[in-house]
Amino acid sequence: MDLSLRRLRNSPWIRELSREVHVDSKKMIQPLFYVEGLKERESIPGLTGVHRENENSLLRQIESDLEIGVKKFLLFGVPANKKNSAPFNFEPTAKIIQKIKSRFGKDLFLATDVCLCSYTESGHCGVLHAEGHHLENSTTVEQLALAALSYAQAGADCVAPSDMMDGRIRAIRETLDYSHLHETLIMSYSAKFHSRFYGPFRLAADSAPKNNVSTLKDRATYQIDPARPSDALLSSLRDQEEGADILMVKPGLPYLDVLLELSQKIQLPWAVYEVSGEFAAIEVLAQQGLMDGPKAHLEAWTSLTRAGAQMIITYGARNAKKWLETQ
Ligand code: PBG
Repeated sequence: MDLSLRRLRNSPWIRELSREVHVDSKKMIQPLFYVEGLKERESIPGLTGVHRENENSLLRQIESDLEIGVKKFLLFGVPANKKNSAPFNFEPTAKIIQKIKSRFGKDLFLATDVCLCSYTESGHCGVLHAEGHHLENSTTVEQLALAALSYAQAGADCVAPSDMMDGRIRAIRETLDYSHLHETLIMSYSAKFHSRFYGPFRLAADSAPKNNVSTLKDRATYQIDPARPSDALLSSLRDQEEGADILMVKPGLPYLDVLLELSQKIQLPWAVYEVSGEFAAIEVLAQQGLMDGPKAHLEAWTSLTRAGAQMIITYGARNAKKWLETQ
């Protein structure tokens, strides 16, 4: 007997019934950008519906997100002043966390990115060595642990180190535990690749490596080489062992193979970051009339879910429910 695969594709009803993968807007995390001292909120090229926010506009944005049921956020704090060396001042970001939490409390889940790239003059994710061609691991880790501590004390539910230094998860966990912040989660960007897909984000977070400040032109000395998936496995195993609660693959679509493999090998919740360039690629094509934006976003999220992600960090989280209903 010939197998008919088309019988199960024939109507929307049987397609709905036979689906194996479910995209769920409740599994999505919406990134937020807080820029200290910004006069007016600014749009971000490629990231439709996402803005660089000041205090008032950020609180208003969160309020309207909560009204439509978007409750999980990843905050990036961008300070007004940058520095070359430690110590850095994490107060501006800690203050906004405190304001968000005192206004909205347990109505939302607030993760905060922990990195130095928005704080350094060089735009690098850590403190530059005096000779300028590599980052100082231990000084950077000390500062990251202090950042995580100040964000957690301000009320962040989760801290998410995205810097890719060695040993930062253990340092952060020990620092938090020492201060009795046992409940604060750590989401490690454990499989973060050295990617071109971060372009629009670096405009939003003002965090591109600046060639005039150092001889280190890019992040290749600390982020994972796209051709080294075994590095992503080692890095994720290590971060699990050091105390991470949630692991992450980043970017998403170009690294689906890594997500599939790692989520099968390591039994922790897996996040995937659909990064700015991936999201913007769909938006730009849609604006050119070359594809249906909402449907393409759903297709990307289906792939990320199918490959093993329990949660998706996406610039489209606040539109997910609406787009899913029109599926
Ligand atoms: C900072 C950081 C980056 C992203 C998240 N945290 C950029 C980078 O490493 O250059 C990228 C997010 C995106 O592109 O959406 N270290």
